[in-house]
Amino acid sequence: MTAYAHIETEIRGRVGLIRLARPKQLNALNDALAHEVVAALEAFDADAEVGAMVITGSEKAFAAGADIAEMQPKSVSEMIVEDYLGVWDGIAAIQKPIVAAVRGYALGGGCELAMMCDFIVAGDDARFGQPEIKIGVLPGIGGTQRLARLVGRNLAMDMVLTGRMIDAAEAKAAGLVARVVPAAETLETALAAAETIAAYNLPAVILAKEAVRRAEETTLAEGLRFERRAFHAAFATEGQKEGMAAFLEKRPPRFSGR
Ligand code: CAA
Repeated sequence: MTAYAHIETEIRGRVGLIRLARPKQLNALNDALAHEVVAALEAFDADAEVGAMVITGSEKAFAAGADIAEMQPKSVSEMIVEDYLGVWDGIAAIQKPIVAAVRGYALGGGCELAMMCDFIVAGDDARFGQPEIKIGVLPGIGGTQRLARLVGRNLAMDMVLTGRMIDAAEAKAAGLVARVVPAAETLETALAAAETIAAYNLPAVILAKEAVRRAEETTLAEGLRFERRAFHAAFATEGQKEGMAAFLEKRPPRFSGR
């Protein structure tokens, strides 16, 4: 397994686990860490032994945002020429599902990273926020766009313009997170969900993820058309024949990943 400086990775069952590991900085997302996260996701995406991924942080912080110390002295020319934060766009190209397991602070880029994942499992100690306005800027990796799509304009405006944090219960009520669990069960719940996904017919899982993603990006008619064709395409997979045969024969399916 590749050695990384700012993250830890391991494979548990068929799940690729990425743990952000800058605890002294509350997992602040510097450029090097961003490259490592995307590289690790790409490696898991290409690994036939892995069917889904989980990204997590520490008990105190999933991530407290982009690294303010790294950003503070930068000029606009540097930001543009380096395409600072552009590396995160690599997550959109990951085919296998990614679950975020969030405890503690998910602020700024941390909240944005969690929203880039396919769904969020939050511990009841999780806190979400887009506090960039307090330090003179605004969200830069999706906080204005994904948050507005997930929770609607009112709460997104409230969070982005006041910098107010919301707790796990408010995040659940608003649709920002899929599940809230007792804090100590956060990672095991996310891993179990990812393991469940990883056991299914991989081509269908990839098509399903892509189809749901389309819902955020296109019209209903286009999205429905894409979904129908993706459904049809699933019939070209071994997993469709096996999954349906197993149901009819009243036995568990054995998916080959093809
Ligand atoms: N960048 C760099 N360092 C950070 C950081 C960040 N985003 N967040 C926390 N740290 C560092 C602190 O500077 C501190 O370092 P030292 O021990 O060397 O002083 C250490 O982590 C611990 O933090 P605190 O002492 O502040 O811990 P706390 O428990 O008192 O407060 C907190 C926790 C409320 C999360 C507070 O740290 C905080 O407000 N952090 C900044 C949150 C923020 O503004 N995030 C947005 C960043 S900008 C962004 O993300 C842009 C974008 O869209 C991509």
